[in-house]
Amino acid sequence: MEEHFSELFKESGIFANREVLSPHYIPQHLLFRDKQIADIEKAVTPSLRGERGRNLFIYGKTGAGKTSCMKWVMDRIREIPVIRAKITYVNCRIYNSRYRVLGKIASDHMPIYAKRGFGVTDIYEKMINWIEEDGKILIAVLDEIDMIRDLDDLIYTLARANSDMKSGGITMIGISNKVSFKDVLDPRSLSTLYENELVFPPYNSVELASILKDRAASGFKKGVIEDESLNLAAAIAAREGGDARFALKIISKAGELAEERGSKAIGTEEIQEASKFAEEDIAYEIINTLPDHQRLVLYAIAIMSTHGSRYKRLDQGDESFLLSGDIFSRYSSLAESLGKEPKSSRLYRKYIADLEMQGIITAYESGKGIRGHTRMIKLSYNPSRVKEVVEKGLFKEGEVEGYIKPS
Ligand SMILES: Nc1ncnc2c1ncn2[C@@H]1O[C@H](COP(=O)(O)OP(=O)(O)OP(=O)(O)O)[C@@H](O)[C@H]1O
Ligand SMILES: [Mg+2]
Repeated sequence: MEEHFSELFKESGIFANREVLSPHYIPQHLLFRDKQIADIEKAVTPSLRGERGRNLFIYGKTGAGKTSCMKWVMDRIREIPVIRAKITYVNCRIYNSRYRVLGKIASDHMPIYAKRGFGVTDIYEKMINWIEEDGKILIAVLDEIDMIRDLDDLIYTLARANSDMKSGGITMIGISNKVSFKDVLDPRSLSTLYENELVFPPYNSVELASILKDRAASGFKKGVIEDESLNLAAAIAAREGGDARFALKIISKAGELAEERGSKAIGTEEIQEASKFAEEDIAYEIINTLPDHQRLVLYAIAIMSTHGSRYKRLDQGDESFLLSGDIFSRYSSLAESLGKEPKSSRLYRKYIADLEMQGIITAYESGKGIRGHTRMIKLSYNPSRVKEVVEKGLFKEGEVEGYIKPS
């Protein structure tokens, strides 16, 4: 036994508490976010008093601390002994439709109606009765709200509930990291959701260094990681958009590398190396959650970027781009070769817009003269790596070689 699982029982020389370094961990103190926390608290105070407050929209880049601050405030709210407000926290990555969000509200507060077989209208009516019975306020926190497929319908439904109810109400708090999110919303939904707006700025390298230092102090054993390494990790993450999650990933991966190597400390080489892993990790996670056809579009882009038809954009120096129309033809033939019906060009354009929103590609509108008016597209990550990731996630073994040959 000991012989076989010796690693399992060996005490780590590097980590004191791995949990603290995980992105899901919410620290007791969220640094540099006093103002944002106070703003969220101010925004929910009317609801806590039993009045219908204004809806709130929270925006900020990934890793800016939106989810952590929201959850931190929710924990404080739960400590208040007597309040009329009820909270539902919805991770819209999982509950990604109006039906699922309503279902989540039901399962949190009216579990008997969360079973299958109840339709949207049933749940809607039960929810209204439940709110009206004692005039409570439901605070619906919709995290990653941009993931909801029929968001306009959901916002309309919740707004409609507010006007239908004789007492009580619903306050919505939407959270997103997508810049172009506003553009895809119906103007009416927009004005409903944006009654209040709160922006989380990205962290700079000094702030990231303090955040890391704080976590490292309880995550690592004493003396394992030096300030120099922490500062480097902070600088790398600041350059990548001020993402605290990315910064934490770097130091915890660097810890693993040091442990594997039997080192007693995390040096700057481990940090450098870990940052490459961390970046890959993040792209990988995003790509693996994309719908199949969108992944095929991405696959076409990756293949074409490694080999295929390139277009040199004159005013962008050495950078090369793909033409949107070329990608669409390539995607269509890929889909066909896999026995799948290609999606329409309208849907294809939506896929491209989504990929752009997720930062996986950059798209430019070509100027006049370049084949009329077309979009020019560039992959944000290493094409061969993206290709590999899609292949692993999307194809059964052997399928790739059998069907798809790069031209
Ligand atoms: N001010 C802070 N102090 C300490 N840790 C922080 C702070 N801000 C963020 N973190 C840590 O960074 C990680 C990412 O934060 P969080 O999940 O809140 O980001 P987010 O803005 O919700 O990002 P996304 O848009 O990707 O969901 C978490 O592990 C969190 O604990
Ligand atoms: Mg979040």
